[in-house]
Amino acid sequence: MHKKIFCGLLLASLAAVLNETTGAAESNDRVSATIALKNMASFPIGVAVSAGDEKRSLFKKTDQQALINQQFNSLVAGNIMKMRYLHPAENQFSYDDADALANYAKEHGMILHGHALVWHPDYQVPTWMKNYAGDWDAMLTQHVTQICKHFAGRVASWDVANEVIDENVPAGYRKSLFYQKMGKSYIEKAFIAAHAADPAADLYYNDFNTEAVQSKLDFMLGMIDDFQARHIPIHGIGFQMHVNSDYPAIAQIRKSFKAVVKRGLKVRISELDVAMNQRNDLKALTPVAAAIQKARYKAIVTAYLEEVPPALRGGITFWGVVDGETWLSKFHKRTEWPLLFNDDYTSKPAFDGVLEALTGK
Ligand code: XIL
Repeated sequence: MHKKIFCGLLLASLAAVLNETTGAAESNDRVSATIALKNMASFPIGVAVSAGDEKRSLFKKTDQQALINQQFNSLVAGNIMKMRYLHPAENQFSYDDADALANYAKEHGMILHGHALVWHPDYQVPTWMKNYAGDWDAMLTQHVTQICKHFAGRVASWDVANEVIDENVPAGYRKSLFYQKMGKSYIEKAFIAAHAADPAADLYYNDFNTEAVQSKLDFMLGMIDDFQARHIPIHGIGFQMHVNSDYPAIAQIRKSFKAVVKRGLKVRISELDVAMNQRNDLKALTPVAAAIQKARYKAIVTAYLEEVPPALRGGITFWGVVDGETWLSKFHKRTEWPLLFNDDYTSKPAFDGVLEALTGK
């Protein structure tokens, strides 16, 4: 059932013909028969990767590089560019792993998206910051400034603030450590500092469920409107889109993209994966489930193409390469198969769904 990733839809049959007529080695034909998602889109097609010392680091598990290089033209670090990695002590920044990733991206003609300058989870905030008793305004500005300056010219865009909205009704600002110390001003201060440090980078606000929960979307739009009225630099919105096969409704997803487009901001689908086992009743991704997932991926990418005009397409990034590495299985404590590729790097029907949407088939 599963197609080898090196065999694209149409060209696969061509390769088969070539194989028959020339007897050429299959592997060579596969390479010549490449269908790469990145070549089918006029906007960045990205993937979150493990790097540095991580178990699945692309520098340790190098067999994944061929697939990554073939399919994607945009990278984001799944973890190693988060706060506690880049800024482990007040006066210490740790850039080696991220620099290696930036070099990798450059060598392979990919752009790098930075994720994330400010994010609240307890385990993500560096310990020194949790204990910080000095001037929070100055400290946060310094944090953002140093990092953005370091990567200026090498990071195309940043998630400046991640998940600052609490969707519990009524939606409001999350009462994070940053909020407790600085009120909501920490958000705009981070954007201002990032823009001053790297005026060329696109600056994004990134969150989950903003494509799903209307009150959360509304709150975010209010924040954007306020930023725009006061000329706070913001260029786009990242919709994480850790979605399920049946939630949220495509109509709600479209409505959310449309509202951001109306404000002239770019739209990124920033962390796309499609969970299939939300009822925890699957032992494997059955052919039926795989077909549903394919249709879901196709509908999402189609919605993106139809609602977001080319100039505002910041791109689509998938949150991982192969199913076996998905963060969702750990997060939900159940097995998930939410991505485009199997663990042996063969493509899933989900891949075809994305491809069909991109090619209008
Ligand atoms: C996740 C990573 O994928 C995991 O490896 C890590 O343990 C936790 O963070 N929203 C985000 C991402 O913005 O940074 C999260 O990534 C997934 C949810």
